[in-house]
Amino acid sequence: MEKSLLRFVTSGSVDDGKSTLIGRLLYETNCIFEDQYEAVKKTSKKTGKKEVDLSLLLDGLSAEREQKITIDVAYRYFSTAKRKFIIADSPGHEQYTRNMVTGASNSQLAIILIDARNGILTQSKRHGFLISLLQIPHLIVAVNKMDLVDYSQEVFEKISDEYLTFSEKLDIHDIIFIPISALKGDNVVSVSSNMKWYDGKSLLQILEDVHVTADRNLIDFRFPVQYVLRPHQDFRGYAGTLTSGTISPDEEVLILPSGKTSVIKSIVADNKELKEAYAGQAIVLTLKDNLDVSRGDMIVRKNNLPHINDFFDAMLCWMSEIPLSGSKHYLLKHTTQTVKVYIKKIHYKININTLHRQKTTDLTLNEIGRVEIKTAKPLFFDAYKANHGTGSFILIDPLTNHTAAAGMIREIPHTVSEWKRSMPLAISHHEKNLRWEAGNIPLSIWEEHNGHKAGIIWLTGLSGSGKSTLAKHLVKELFERGCQVMYLDGDNIRQGLNNDLGFSQADRTENIRRIGETAKLFFSQGNIVICAFISPFQKDRDFVRSLVPKDRFIELYMKCDIEVCKERDPKGLYKKAYAGEIPDFTGVSSPYEAPAEPEIAIETDVKGIQENLSLVLDYLVKQQFIE
Ligand code: ADX
Repeated sequence: MEKSLLRFVTSGSVDDGKSTLIGRLLYETNCIFEDQYEAVKKTSKKTGKKEVDLSLLLDGLSAEREQKITIDVAYRYFSTAKRKFIIADSPGHEQYTRNMVTGASNSQLAIILIDARNGILTQSKRHGFLISLLQIPHLIVAVNKMDLVDYSQEVFEKISDEYLTFSEKLDIHDIIFIPISALKGDNVVSVSSNMKWYDGKSLLQILEDVHVTADRNLIDFRFPVQYVLRPHQDFRGYAGTLTSGTISPDEEVLILPSGKTSVIKSIVADNKELKEAYAGQAIVLTLKDNLDVSRGDMIVRKNNLPHINDFFDAMLCWMSEIPLSGSKHYLLKHTTQTVKVYIKKIHYKININTLHRQKTTDLTLNEIGRVEIKTAKPLFFDAYKANHGTGSFILIDPLTNHTAAAGMIREIPHTVSEWKRSMPLAISHHEKNLRWEAGNIPLSIWEEHNGHKAGIIWLTGLSGSGKSTLAKHLVKELFERGCQVMYLDGDNIRQGLNNDLGFSQADRTENIRRIGETAKLFFSQGNIVICAFISPFQKDRDFVRSLVPKDRFIELYMKCDIEVCKERDPKGLYKKAYAGEIPDFTGVSSPYEAPAEPEIAIETDVKGIQENLSLVLDYLVKQQFIE
């Protein structure tokens, strides 16, 4: 199996022992050469040090870097049997913000080092703020130099408690505290016998085990078109990298900004046709229709649109020596688009030492502020919190061509701009001045916490086919396994939420639409949502399917001969229907469209409940929903 990769960023000044820690990780994972180690040993001795000063390793490694002072972040690599690691090492001097933003921008984890003797410094808080701003999913607070405080549990706990209290003001989801001594090696690679009171893993074990694959956004399919490939008249492909989500052939998509819809014909990567592509993959897409798509357009799923707007709020980290000027134009690079913009308003800047907001008229190097940006043409974006790829951008100073700022999109002002009135209908329904209030806890964290994947299991079939019976068994079984489950059932929903709906075709469609949207909300909070509805129309079931990533919707066809259903007639409804007392009764006076390609088909007229339950559970295990 290919080793997974973890990118992490370290912050803290040299005094906190950061270089020593990195040096030790490289040394103990055998990622430095013997002669480098010998040289460091010699130097350490010469300077009268008892231990080998591993921080000197980094000085040696950074020598070449010094010549190119423009590079503020050094990348170091090491690997273990389990994983490969890339450390973005951003120096802790004055340029902290710029360096850390650069180094951390695609890190999945951050380590903040705190000197056990000094406790929490302003700088430790500042780094916490940046980690929260950049939404780095995991944070390790390493309380270092424990050897100098007699490996005291009390000291460690005091610092941990204090930092935890501070971090509650921030938006950090996963925080782990660990007492270490980078110099002596305690709890760095293996668990130390000097701190028997600590019952956690070593730092390296944490780095090896932290769950990172789920940190990507696999829900919202966003494909910014980078190039249009037209090698000859009969071929038209769109090349680019999937910013987020997944996509498969035959899925219905919408092109922005035209609003035209089509269906994915094929997906090619490395000359191979793919059945499915994931966030991060470079691919070429072809569509079933011949549409006019060009660079900078975005292909998305029809029922999952990004925001489309020519102004929005963003947090800016100013990275240029030349301060932000409200009267100047900048170029904004976002996905595959570059547009002219100006800063309409600076709401405030943040004092990152106190986290207080301050009024300001400009932003200078390393300052962070909230601004409103107006773009020359609409962008297709999400809030950074929901989607790092489509929620981030950089500003370029057109005079110097240098990066002026890194930006993270916050939200969209509640006003409608002029151009929107001319947008195609498919898009305009989306623009009702609503914004998606992303839950504080992203799906990936829910899933990690629950220990299983979220999904929608959709039971469809005639009345009397056994949907509710199987659904209830399934709910009970998953509940007993400790899963987070939610159960939605036709008869129940129709007595409350949908009691205004009848059984005409239009009402049934509306019934399923509301249930689908409800299931999606539960899904996005980590639930396995079990839905038992006749849902007689394929297009309605396909609609629900389109609301979640492809492999998260399981259509479970409860196949049962109508004669058997009639015989069972648990609620006496068939009898009434044949007596003409219930109009539009499915299977009698209203059609049922059997699923064309269900994920699971169960013959409930042939097999018993336990057997059917096992079939579903086997499928869930095979698809790695549960273990
Ligand atoms: S759906 O067609 O819109 O998906 P749903 O699953 O919500 O139907 O509700 C079906 C339940 O409503 C049945 O289990 C049955 O108890 C009740 N019901 C009442 N009238 C009808 C009807 N005309 N057709 C089907 N089910 C009906």
